[in-house]
Amino acid sequence: MNPELKRAAELAAEYIDGLDTEPVSHEPSVGDLRATLGRELTTDGVPALQVIEELAVDARDGLLNTASGRFYGWVIGGGIPVAIAADWLTSAWDQNAGAYACSPTAAVIEEVVADWLKEILGLPKQASYAFVTGCQMASVTALAAARHKILTDKDWPVAEQGLSGSPAIRVLVGEHHETLLRALRLLGIGTDSIVQVAINNDGRINVDALERELKQNTDAPTIVALAAGDLNRGAFDPFGEACDVAHECGAWVHVDGAFGLWVASSRKLCHLVNGIEKADSWAMDAHKWLNVPHDSGIAFVADPKSHRAAMTIPAAYKVEVADVRDELEWGPEWSRRARAIPIYAALRALGRNGVAELVERCCDLTKDLVKRLGELPGVEVLTTPIINQGLVRFLDPNGDHDTRTDAVIQYINESGDAWFGGTIWNGMRVMRISLSNWRTNQDDIDRTVAAVRSALNKASN
Ligand SMILES: Cc1ncc(COP(=O)(O)O)c(C=O)c1O
Repeated sequence: MNPELKRAAELAAEYIDGLDTEPVSHEPSVGDLRATLGRELTTDGVPALQVIEELAVDARDGLLNTASGRFYGWVIGGGIPVAIAADWLTSAWDQNAGAYACSPTAAVIEEVVADWLKEILGLPKQASYAFVTGCQMASVTALAAARHKILTDKDWPVAEQGLSGSPAIRVLVGEHHETLLRALRLLGIGTDSIVQVAINNDGRINVDALERELKQNTDAPTIVALAAGDLNRGAFDPFGEACDVAHECGAWVHVDGAFGLWVASSRKLCHLVNGIEKADSWAMDAHKWLNVPHDSGIAFVADPKSHRAAMTIPAAYKVEVADVRDELEWGPEWSRRARAIPIYAALRALGRNGVAELVERCCDLTKDLVKRLGELPGVEVLTTPIINQGLVRFLDPNGDHDTRTDAVIQYINESGDAWFGGTIWNGMRVMRISLSNWRTNQDDIDRTVAAVRSALNKASN
């Protein structure tokens, strides 16, 4: 066997085996990292095996161990071993998943995976799809289809004439992730087109306010962007009602379900996405809650005609094969990784019940963690988890809660026992708990509570 492939596999397995015992972060200094990794570029190269050995050592301190069961920083999944293994095969096969002729296997795996996903997520059978790098690019893809449809409805051929002089698009949003705004900007829909609709106290869009906004200008080509699981609270918009009022006014409804869409797989939680199948497009990630390696988002579009019209690309050298799906007709890239293969492996290994169990377990552990943090002195629970997201802050006896919250987060992260991120919510510095890792178990929760307790003690001394 090729020695560097064999050694890399050993090193990768060792890394993964060490996740339970290694610190979550080594909190390296960037200067040290630059010095370590900034090796001389030689004229004649160094032996391949040496490159791999040294890379593993040099990279180590700068690896934030997001795959650890005690990482709660952002919504980042951990990588189930079968998906990592399939990802290795994907690299070894090195297929270009641009067209059927480039890789029949990659093309057909996409069809199979898309059908499985639509079934698990309760999305319309006829929906078209694209496998992209992440949820943001899934939104770009889906919103390109939206742009095409709502402008075509106004007799504006956007593919030929672009947006200059077109009817002005408006986008009505409730809770939304920043990447939605960038997706729109990339499509030439500037942030001035965005109308923030009132949000209820529970984080869900106010449907009456949405209806009022929609009816204020029924002529404007309109997109309504809804959220299935916002990043802070994990709130879900009322999809059925919102879609009904939006469709009455001819608007396109897009759903950002980066991680939240996965709750559709669970009988206990699927009520949160009631009516979501009425939307026109959906963007989501596999690299978050399905725990496959990064570079894995999926767009679904209910109207394949608009989707294809927005994405299709002519190429004289394309090999026409009857009755097949060329991936480049549906996504923003030409040459690309066969990124559906790790999803295929994950879904086969987990099955429907395994996906649901993964999602439910993460939600149960999040609830337990937030509850137990709330029992510690000086911890204020700001949002009780709806799914796998929670917010807390740390109260300062002198009233400077923001500074104390940042200090406690820093102490926790420096300990290496757990890792959390801070954010601003309702004007307060808060600590966000995001738990979407298949690896996290009750022992991790116990260790995390102990880490927070000791950080609180440190902050008090
Ligand atoms: C709700 C939501 N939408 C979109 C995104 C962007 O996803 P990606 O980074 O995969 O493009 C994120 C990332 O955290 C998210 O939480």
